[in-house]
Amino acid sequence: MRLSPVFVALLSGLLAADLGLARSVAPRVADSPAAVTGTRKTSLLKNVAGLPPVPSAAQVAATSLNTDDIQGDILVGMHKQKQLFYFFAINDPATFKTHLASDIAPVVASVTQLSNVATQPLVALNIAFSNTGLLALGVTDNLGDSLFANGQAKDATSFKESTSSWVPQFAGTGIHGVIILASDTTDLIDQQVASIESTFGSSISKLYSLSASIRPGNEAGHEMFGFLDGIAQPAINGFNTPLPGQNIVDAGVIITGATNDPITRPSWAVGGSFLAFRQLEQLVPEFNKYLLDNAPAGSGSLQARADLLGARMVGRWKSGAPIDLTPTADDPALGADAQRNNNFTYSHAGFDLGSDQSHCPFSAHIRKTRPRADLGGSLTPPNLSAGANSIMRSGIPYGPEVTSAESASNTTTQERGLAFVAYQAQLSQGFHFLQQTWADNANFPPGKTPATVGLDPIIGQNNGQPRVVNGLLPSNSSASLSIPQFVVSHGGEYFFSPPISAIGGRLSA
Ligand code: HEM
Ligand SMILES: *[C@@H]1O[C@H](CO)[C@@H](O)[C@H](O)[C@H]1NC(C)=O
Ligand SMILES: *[C@@H]1O[C@H](CO)[C@@H](O)[C@H](O)[C@H]1NC(C)=O
Ligand SMILES: *[C@@H]1O[C@H](CO)[C@@H](O)[C@H](O)[C@H]1NC(C)=O
Ligand SMILES: *[C@@H]1O[C@H](CO)[C@@H](O)[C@H](O)[C@H]1NC(C)=O
Repeated sequence: MRLSPVFVALLSGLLAADLGLARSVAPRVADSPAAVTGTRKTSLLKNVAGLPPVPSAAQVAATSLNTDDIQGDILVGMHKQKQLFYFFAINDPATFKTHLASDIAPVVASVTQLSNVATQPLVALNIAFSNTGLLALGVTDNLGDSLFANGQAKDATSFKESTSSWVPQFAGTGIHGVIILASDTTDLIDQQVASIESTFGSSISKLYSLSASIRPGNEAGHEMFGFLDGIAQPAINGFNTPLPGQNIVDAGVIITGATNDPITRPSWAVGGSFLAFRQLEQLVPEFNKYLLDNAPAGSGSLQARADLLGARMVGRWKSGAPIDLTPTADDPALGADAQRNNNFTYSHAGFDLGSDQSHCPFSAHIRKTRPRADLGGSLTPPNLSAGANSIMRSGIPYGPEVTSAESASNTTTQERGLAFVAYQAQLSQGFHFLQQTWADNANFPPGKTPATVGLDPIIGQNNGQPRVVNGLLPSNSSASLSIPQFVVSHGGEYFFSPPISAIGGRLSA
């Protein structure tokens, strides 16, 4: 049966409204020469117990966020299995733009696509640009973020670090962009790299790349020191179904131009996010030796006391169980239970929040980077303004597992660590703020006794010198430790992860 043209127009209008396609997103084609084609049968993401789940298709259908236009990596969290960060420079902007619009934009993976195995590509491709990359494309619009505009190398001194320990390609402004590829096998990622390189030809040069992987077996989801990572992520109001204890934030804390983003953005940049990338080496055998050598006195085996010190540095046991809820021993069932493992505030009945570190030291990594009740005010019911300094973490470990020779000699011989990725709408409120104003600040959180809390024992920095950290020993909250730096920054860059519509639109015009 032939339908009248009027009817067809009416029908497609209804369908478009129904599917939310009225949200001005270009149609997606899957047969770009830049994409590895094929159908997925199993998810490219791994749902690790204890982490907030990967956004679901139902969630995506119910939200007013334009998830068709938001790059997937921004909201999926730490669920990637294999990943490649491909840092490039643009040599020939005109040719690059042609391929960006016709071959890359159609295959950039959105949040919507990643929320459903049936629509997941074999390899999820995301792309983000540094400020010099946008300039190379002739895009001079002010995105409203001066840290982004200056580049991360200029920000190194804010974190008391020197670019002399940086990967040389990061120690300037030569990187124009990063292509982030995620899949479940490195073979698929390699195929995708070959397709991209043949698509762009000499219009880009690879400057550097870092491949990263979920850890094997029971270590899946754990960072290189052994702790489950990616548990406490902000829940976006109107998108995520909040888990108990999750920080509920307005979308504009993470997504540029979304609800309550206070900064004015160019219209094409609405639906993006700033990406802070950091290559953070972890000296694992050295860290383990430090824990053994400085294990607090007390009952229990040396290893158990060393584990306690490690847990007090992080604020969680290796399983992810929070020490605020289980201060003296790990509780793996708690660690694996996303309904319970984030449900704490550091405050307890009959407990002096200003001086009691018997559960969690004031300096613990997770307390420094999100002090919960320490800043006062109400946390429940959800207090949206309490989440202004939230970041969406999307990193993944890199480098080989520790070898038996490294562990026997207490010495790192092969680089490993965290390919740290944080998304936020304002770098000055997100990554930069957490590192500089909280982690590296000996007097944060304020109003404590003893007043000097010390630095974050995991990520706090002091120009390569040992960091003074207080409150880690359960028996004496006044005792100080001077802790060598076990996380060594090799730098990174600040990028803007644009809305997908801008990739084929403003950025390739
Ligand atoms: C190699 C470096 C790092 C390691 C080993 C590490 C490890 C961890 C671990 C084990 C957790 C607890 C699990 C979780 O809640 O996800 C955590 C939480 C967190 N980390 Fe890190 N991290 C590192 C770097 C950073 C950096 C550079 C920042 C930001 C400047 C950061 C910010 C956070 C935040 C915001 C949380 C959640 C806190 C909460 O809401 O309770 N981390 N990290
Ligand atoms: C979360 O913690 C509160 C306060 O301790 C408690 O009442 C509630 O039952 C907890 N929720 C879950 C799911 O355990
Ligand atoms: C919400 O949290 C902020 C920051 O932690 C705090 O200053 C404010 O008092 C809280 N609001 C309420 C209503 O408790
Ligand atoms: C490694 O460190 C542990 C803990 O201090 C120590 O017992 C062991 O002897 C060290 N091994 C070497 C080869 O130094
Ligand atoms: C606790 O540590 C402080 C600072 O090192 C020290 O002065 C004090 O004597 C210690 N107290 C006990 C009971 O060991």
